[in-house]
Amino acid sequence: MNFHILTLFPEMVMQGLSTSILGKAIERKLISIEAVNIRDYTTDKHGKVDDYTYGGGAGMLMQAQPVYDTYLAVNEAITGKRALENNGENSERSPRVIYVTPQGRNFNQEMAKEFAKEEDLIFLCGHYEGIDERVLEEIVTDYVSIGDYVLTGGELPAMVMVDSISRLIPGVLHNDESAATESFHNDLLEYPQYSRPEVWQGKRVPEILLSGDHAKVDKWRLEQSIERTKKLRPDLYEKWKLRQETEGIGKNGENGVNS
Ligand code: ADE
Repeated sequence: MNFHILTLFPEMVMQGLSTSILGKAIERKLISIEAVNIRDYTTDKHGKVDDYTYGGGAGMLMQAQPVYDTYLAVNEAITGKRALENNGENSERSPRVIYVTPQGRNFNQEMAKEFAKEEDLIFLCGHYEGIDERVLEEIVTDYVSIGDYVLTGGELPAMVMVDSISRLIPGVLHNDESAATESFHNDLLEYPQYSRPEVWQGKRVPEILLSGDHAKVDKWRLEQSIERTKKLRPDLYEKWKLRQETEGIGKNGENGVNS
């Protein structure tokens, strides 16, 4: 997976994404991340990328030209690379361009899975009061938000999405199983987990986890997941229950978080 992040703050993005698990994934060439500075593509001789909005109103807007030219350069590089890999044949589809904006669809685990199937993803980060509508119409394929609140720019949301998509790429997590057993897998939250010592501040690890009976542990974990989801995320629980009823699966726990 190759991430291409179009931004006015490339250092912020690269610093945030090149340590820990993602840093290792980059070293191991499982993912690549490039942050492309939109300012590098402005034709304004003073390096300006924003201007006042027509019709008045507070704040400045990112202009169409630098954003479009940054996109063209990145898209051309991707197309060229794909053509090299495919013996000179152009691939039919341009990469998806995700505009991170509070006006978009709310990002969730299903979307992360869908995006993880792509070979290249372009993220467009806005700043100031946003971006000239005409360039958005021209290049954006997906409008995505990370929640119903407003941030100062699109960099943090793009970083959140890159992180959650990356960990779904095979090999990025040490144990691929952990991506299949964690919260939101099959609409359930993850069960509670414990490590040593057996007793901490008078609290014992649940006895069943020490029993060595894997079937019983699996059953207990599924029950805990269901209970926890019902209590903390009743909306998710309803979704899970409906799926149990309509798909008729999960009777033996095979649709649980630990399957
Ligand atoms: N830009 C500013 N706020 C945002 C949000 N909540 N999600 C995505 N992009 C944003």
